[in-house]
Amino acid sequence: MDFKNEVVKLLSSKITDLTQEEILDAIEVPKNTSMGDYAFPCFKLAKTFRKAPNMIATEIAESLESDVFETIAPVAAYINFTIDKTVYAKQVVEKVIKLGDDYGHQAIGENKTVIVEFSSVNIAKVMHIGHIRSAMIGNSLARIYDALDYNVVKINHLGDYGTQFGKMIEAYKLWGDKEVVEKNPVDELVKLYVKFHVEAEKDSTLDDKAREWFMKLEQGDAEATHLWQWMKDFSMIEFNRVYDLLDCEFDSFDGESFYSDKMPAILDELREKKIVKKDAGAEIVDLEEYGMPPSLITKSDGSSLYVTRDIAAAVYRKKQYDFYKNIYVVGAPQQLHFKQWMQIVKLMGHEWADDCVHVMFGMVSMEDGKMSTREGRVVKLEDVLVKAKESIKVLIEEKNPGLENKDEVARQVGVGAVVFQELFHNRIKDYVFSWEKMLSAEGESGPYVQYAHARACSLIKNIEVGDASVDYSILKDDVSMEVIRQLSKYEETIQDAARKYEPSIVTRYVTSLAQMFNTFYNANRISDQTPEIKAARIALVKAVKITIKNALHLITIEAPEQL
Ligand code: ARG
Repeated sequence: MDFKNEVVKLLSSKITDLTQEEILDAIEVPKNTSMGDYAFPCFKLAKTFRKAPNMIATEIAESLESDVFETIAPVAAYINFTIDKTVYAKQVVEKVIKLGDDYGHQAIGENKTVIVEFSSVNIAKVMHIGHIRSAMIGNSLARIYDALDYNVVKINHLGDYGTQFGKMIEAYKLWGDKEVVEKNPVDELVKLYVKFHVEAEKDSTLDDKAREWFMKLEQGDAEATHLWQWMKDFSMIEFNRVYDLLDCEFDSFDGESFYSDKMPAILDELREKKIVKKDAGAEIVDLEEYGMPPSLITKSDGSSLYVTRDIAAAVYRKKQYDFYKNIYVVGAPQQLHFKQWMQIVKLMGHEWADDCVHVMFGMVSMEDGKMSTREGRVVKLEDVLVKAKESIKVLIEEKNPGLENKDEVARQVGVGAVVFQELFHNRIKDYVFSWEKMLSAEGESGPYVQYAHARACSLIKNIEVGDASVDYSILKDDVSMEVIRQLSKYEETIQDAARKYEPSIVTRYVTSLAQMFNTFYNANRISDQTPEIKAARIALVKAVKITIKNALHLITIEAPEQL
């Protein structure tokens, strides 16, 4: 039942000169719940009723009757509707239980396709703690859009192309050892890359050789292609371990190299449409008119650039997927890059440039000082996840040694704790990674929410309730009602998170729900109560359990039944 529609139905039986839509539009939701759940202002009716608005409010309010509303009362020029708590509790709790895993799923997206590009790591580079941001914000947005019934396409736009691969090939040819690299691919390739830079300082011919290798790669030379593919495959083995831990999945790994043969056509078009101009041997797009510095499209040696590949990728995606939205989850430092190429796409005459969205985010730093890739002070993401899992394992051994599948639960809780911390903050904010806050079972943490879920599971399992129908009037107390109101906000929370590209809205929602549930649990005894009370309270616990689990799924956190 839609309570707002009920208000419209009631009012339209008394107000004939407003359409149902006009009535619907005029209905307000009072900020203060003591003023009712809905309010209808009567000012507009003064003309036809030929009375003062407050008199009209009184007259209409007194003439209306409904089982759905506890009270329909005039307050000054408003008619206030207060939903009957029993009806409301029944409606919300029954809906959640009936829908189960599908609670939150909404048919909004129809057949529209949303592309979420995320993670997009660079081959042969270490995946450090900072990389968790794009991975998890993106993975979560994909699930959020999926819940809204969009067709979601998850793309990892791998950084697998560019002159650095020429350097890596040259370095490997000079100093590399196949076995050593295959044992520990990313670390060894990074070492070779670093060595290349050191040696190139002394010997400038190295840079020429690297350029040659990259040229060969671009031309499809067999050896260059083979070495590059090998580096890519072995890097992916490492990345996939992290993606598995994080529960990140992709539909496509078409990265930068995929677009190399799609760029000439783009360059031709840019030249034909006179969007690029020559500048000291290179080609640029002048963006002064849009308040941006010029964008470099080709270098003087004719090789193409990051910007050009992004333009080619966007054009390809539009053709391939006909997206409704094309979302890029990439850090704030690349803001200008995205603004520039999206503007160029617009200059090419593609109105869909406006459907491309750069979802940016701030930085993560470690408590013990900043990370620095250059000084070799990186905190590897995989190490963090493994350490989190191990810390939780120790806690489980201490507190619940009899738990089944301890390893699996340790992973769910440990990794969940890291992910929760990542998705708790507004994405644009920088945050400091804190082991202590993250693993705490109190307050705003993953373990806290998972614990509330596990508590709900154990109540459901251990408290016997018959299948007599539930008396929802038992849930009229304030703490129960607070939980019920929160449950009912779940669907709009998902919509809000999608609209703002902000998974933290879901994280905060589920944290509040867990807090309210704990308050409910502390205030309302269950096990030693009458069968009626037990049945009603357990129904609420079931609805909470479902909603926590579904919400955690949206932020890529699992919900074990036992901790
Ligand atoms: N690989 C790039 C980096 O690590 C990020 C790619 C972002 N996506 C894009 N379409 N430009 O900086």
